[in-house]
Amino acid sequence: MDVFEPRVGEEVANLQEGPVSLDQLGEWQKTVSCERLRPADVGREVVLMGWVQRRRDHGGLIFVDLRDREGITQVVFDPNIGKAGHERAGALRSEFVIAVRGTVRLRPEGMTNPKLPTGEIEVAVAELRILNSSKTPPFQVEEDLEASENIRLKYRFIDLRRPKLFKNLFLRHKAAQMTRAYFSDLGFIEVETPVLTRSTPEGARDYLVPSRVNSGKFYALPQSPQLFKQILMVAGFERYFQIVKCFRDEDLRADRQPEFTQLDLEMSFIREEDIYGMIEGWISRVFSELKGHTPKTPFPRMTYAEAMDRYGTDRPDTRFELLLTEVTDVVAASEFRVFREAIERGGIVKALRVPGGKDLSRKELDELIEFVKIFGARGMAWIKIQPDGWQSPITKFLSPEVQQGLTERLGIEVGDVILFVADQRKVVNDSLGNLRGRIGKQLGLIDPDAFHFTWVTDFPLLEWDSNEKRYTSVHHPFTSPVESDMSLLETQPEKVRSRAYDLVLNGIEIGGGSIRIHQQEVQERVFRALGISGEEAQEKFGFLLEALQYGAPPHGGIAFGIDRLVMLLCGSSSIRDVIAFPKTQKATCLMTNAPSEAGVNQLLELCLKVECDRKK
Ligand code: AMO
Ligand code: AMP
Repeated sequence: MDVFEPRVGEEVANLQEGPVSLDQLGEWQKTVSCERLRPADVGREVVLMGWVQRRRDHGGLIFVDLRDREGITQVVFDPNIGKAGHERAGALRSEFVIAVRGTVRLRPEGMTNPKLPTGEIEVAVAELRILNSSKTPPFQVEEDLEASENIRLKYRFIDLRRPKLFKNLFLRHKAAQMTRAYFSDLGFIEVETPVLTRSTPEGARDYLVPSRVNSGKFYALPQSPQLFKQILMVAGFERYFQIVKCFRDEDLRADRQPEFTQLDLEMSFIREEDIYGMIEGWISRVFSELKGHTPKTPFPRMTYAEAMDRYGTDRPDTRFELLLTEVTDVVAASEFRVFREAIERGGIVKALRVPGGKDLSRKELDELIEFVKIFGARGMAWIKIQPDGWQSPITKFLSPEVQQGLTERLGIEVGDVILFVADQRKVVNDSLGNLRGRIGKQLGLIDPDAFHFTWVTDFPLLEWDSNEKRYTSVHHPFTSPVESDMSLLETQPEKVRSRAYDLVLNGIEIGGGSIRIHQQEVQERVFRALGISGEEAQEKFGFLLEALQYGAPPHGGIAFGIDRLVMLLCGSSSIRDVIAFPKTQKATCLMTNAPSEAGVNQLLELCLKVECDRKK
């Protein structure tokens, strides 16, 4: 009957060294998951298999919470299981893998556990088989565990036993299934594009892979399948999609990973509206089926200019009011040196009116001043609107006319605090935009269950990069300019709008795309505006320029960050919670220790020599 006799006590950790049968399962089959049993199953004989969550001994009774990927069932060893069986049960430790055969029974009155779906029943064990032992795990498999993230990532195989992580990945799986079905039904076909390829610029650094057979040459891992999907349109595929890994060597944050997954798609013979409708249908389906929440469509739209003006960012979180207002013209005449000097240097002044903010303490205001400095602001001025007048270190510099002007522009009311930053436009937007988010959280203005989608449209095509001293693409170089702005491309490039769009959810950019350039001459003009010489364009993108000359249809598309979308669906704050094997902030994998050094022979074969210091 029992094929395996473990030794008891401390030796148990060495179970595998004993005379172990390779097939401890014998003829047993798992009959039911540990989540599914209910009072209706009382009397059923079942075989459960899973991991020991914990063991409790109560006199002659031994209780084990048995866990599998779905949940937990309490199994009980009565003394009448026999001495040997009882001893073996007493030797069980956390994370041992076991199989039990037994009968479902109701728990005695007063012993039910309303927190567990299986809390009304237990399984009285007739037979136990220990399928494997476990070393004492570095942390308990429990939610809200205290263990550091580094330990959890090193032992990811244990961390992933947490039901929450399994549920996240299961939801991710369902979202992917649903996505494939939705787009397939609309006539899209999934096509795989190369991973070993040339640089596909999306604004990050490339990961390079040396070629052995072409020594001295490198592939780049794709930052996105952008050029291949456009080529598929030239090839006449009309509707393409792919759930695809992309690679970007950039500074990491909570919502960024060096390798991440996109839903990538492209269509021919379409305009912006076609994309919006199709994506709104997809998002609605995913959210209603996985979240029980059907977003209102069509999604609101906002121009880039409005987003920057009122939210200070192109990723507006529209779950709460609290908007930025420019007051440069109102305060230009004030005596306040800080405002005047900033304006004289070509900067602007914006204000954030916070209703009810007059109760912020001096200490809290000082903290906000330190906060805006993170984003380059030199300071932040404030005014509290008290019932008996304005209270602020700067009131004395503001004439009655300026005060009147501010009252009208901002709609000031008693009880408000007004926060000001004066600086160059970018610094003002960055600092007040981020301050807005922080105050929204601090004052509880954000409904955590709300989902606010916004299309951001009318992006500029180019922006000036003062480090590189040239224009760069706001989206990517293959995005079409707005037809009516084309004449400005050579004369006032920064004024040209693009046909790009982003979808923002609760202040996070979940997707972005554009209508593309499908005419070779236009693509060449845009390359020139970007300071890319004809020669360089040929060298890097010759195949695209070539393809555009052979009957390229009008086309456009979009890509979504699947990790970010699933993170928001799961209510997580980090994309590492929805990726099975994520990388750390330093782009390392603590479980496999990637990246690692290459062997001398490998380097020789690749004709590579490593020059930089190897930091131990
Ligand atoms: P874009 O660069 O905007 O567009 O990327 C599309 C979406 O991918 C997600 N994303 C990321 N997610 C996690 N980690 C990262 N490092 C990361 N970088 C981007 C974001 C983003 O909105 N080829 C174009 C799309 C197109 O024009 O069709 C592109 O890749 O959610
Ligand atoms: P100072 O004269 O530098 O002591 O600044 C006077 C007040 O103006 C302080 O409350 C500062 O926080 C604020 N302040 C300083 N620089 C700026 C700025 N760039 N924008 C808005 N307020 C500022």
